[in-house]
Amino acid sequence: MKKVYIETYGCQMNVNDTEVIFAILAADGWERTEDMSQANLLMANTCSIRDNAEQRIWGRIEVFNQQRKSRPGVLVGIVGCMAERLKDKLLDTRKVDLVVGPDAYRSLPKLLSAITPDNPQIDVLLSRDETYADITPVRTDKNGISAFISIMRGCNNVCSYCVVPYTRGAERSRDPHSIVREACDVFGKGYKEVTLLGQNVDSYLWKDETQTVNFARLLEMVAAVSPELRVRFATSHPKDISDEVIETMAAHPNICRHIHLPVQSGSTRLLEKMRRKYTREWYLERVAKIRSVMPDCGLTTDVIAGFCSETLEDHADTLSLMDQVGFDWAFMFAYSDRPGTLANRTMVDDVPADEKNRRLNEIIELQNRKSLERYRAQIGKKVRVLVEGPSKRDPSQLCGRASNNMMCVFPARDLRKGDYADVTVVDCTSATLICE
Ligand code: SAH
Ligand code: SF4
Ligand code: F3S
Repeated sequence: MKKVYIETYGCQMNVNDTEVIFAILAADGWERTEDMSQANLLMANTCSIRDNAEQRIWGRIEVFNQQRKSRPGVLVGIVGCMAERLKDKLLDTRKVDLVVGPDAYRSLPKLLSAITPDNPQIDVLLSRDETYADITPVRTDKNGISAFISIMRGCNNVCSYCVVPYTRGAERSRDPHSIVREACDVFGKGYKEVTLLGQNVDSYLWKDETQTVNFARLLEMVAAVSPELRVRFATSHPKDISDEVIETMAAHPNICRHIHLPVQSGSTRLLEKMRRKYTREWYLERVAKIRSVMPDCGLTTDVIAGFCSETLEDHADTLSLMDQVGFDWAFMFAYSDRPGTLANRTMVDDVPADEKNRRLNEIIELQNRKSLERYRAQIGKKVRVLVEGPSKRDPSQLCGRASNNMMCVFPARDLRKGDYADVTVVDCTSATLICE
């Protein structure tokens, strides 16, 4: 049997896309392997979000190419966002046999059968309607407890720093019934948690002759699958997260109390240059609304340091916003200029690398302090944890996440993965709650 090995980089949507690719290839007679040396086809599902993401993948292409040279007949495929961004430039390297963009995975079998040593194959067409709604992903998670479900693809925002609209194309929502069916399917297979994925889940919208389903309604539909099935989602956009969504969360105990709400910057002037379409005040108002409706809601964010023209004052605004909100944790990045984006074409990447890193380190240091504060504030509380399995650090303990997404560890009793455990927080680090 033909064997395929896939490495996945980038966001959770890419993880789910790899599961879709496995499903498409399985139907074409390919078996999945986790051992590169056994594979006939080596693929990387790639990410272009920052330059360092792409640099890492160039390193993997070298490794794959060595396999290709030492084992004749082995094929190398690059798929995903970097395939979409670089297109035939990847073929020019002569290290790659196959280049496929995020909307063209259905053509993989056809392309694979057409490859010859002199005929590498490429399909990077973006689509207006592809959502892979009818494909049941081959789950690649290790624990069988938590599954990703993509509810939409693409992005219609044009944040000036971001390549995603170029690599993933226009936003389109998937049929809600196919989403609910997939949630029922995984629940039937023993999964206890689904994470609904999209670049901007709040703009999810499905219309047909009989109904209009927005994100709040979709959340309700998925939450109704079973009270035993937890529902998470990512990513929310501050400009679009509605009161209706916040209230729907509050009304359903199995919708987890966690919102990932990327702020990017605390300076309204910079937010405008980033084309985020909200102000610092708007963001703070959304946070206040969330906390007034769900005081126990976990909040996390993304922050970019050193975007074009960022002054020390703008940077101080970011720090003060982070200080004021107190996020549970954050993904923090130095700005990376991406070819073809609006910022790349019309702005100057003028904060020197050293200074970007200095600002980034200040942001990280502040966040570490805030995380510890946020985790400490949980001590004494009772939380419900979905057991994922033994803790990696100490196998005599179990681990799992609280509704607010904080990782918890606690002594193993006669609980198994997939069970819910009611525990009390007794101590913490800045990334883990220690419970009894
Ligand atoms: N759709 C989500 C995030 C997508 S990308 C949203 O709108 O928030 C994930 C994160 O990568 C972004 O939130 C941003 O913080 C970061 N990012 C995107 N482009 C970047 C760039 N050019 N340089 C540095 N960080 C970037
Ligand atoms: Fe990129 Fe903005 Fe779309 Fe997020 S919302 S994927 S940051 S363009
Ligand atoms: Fe990366 Fe593409 Fe996701 S650029 S972050 S893999 S949408």
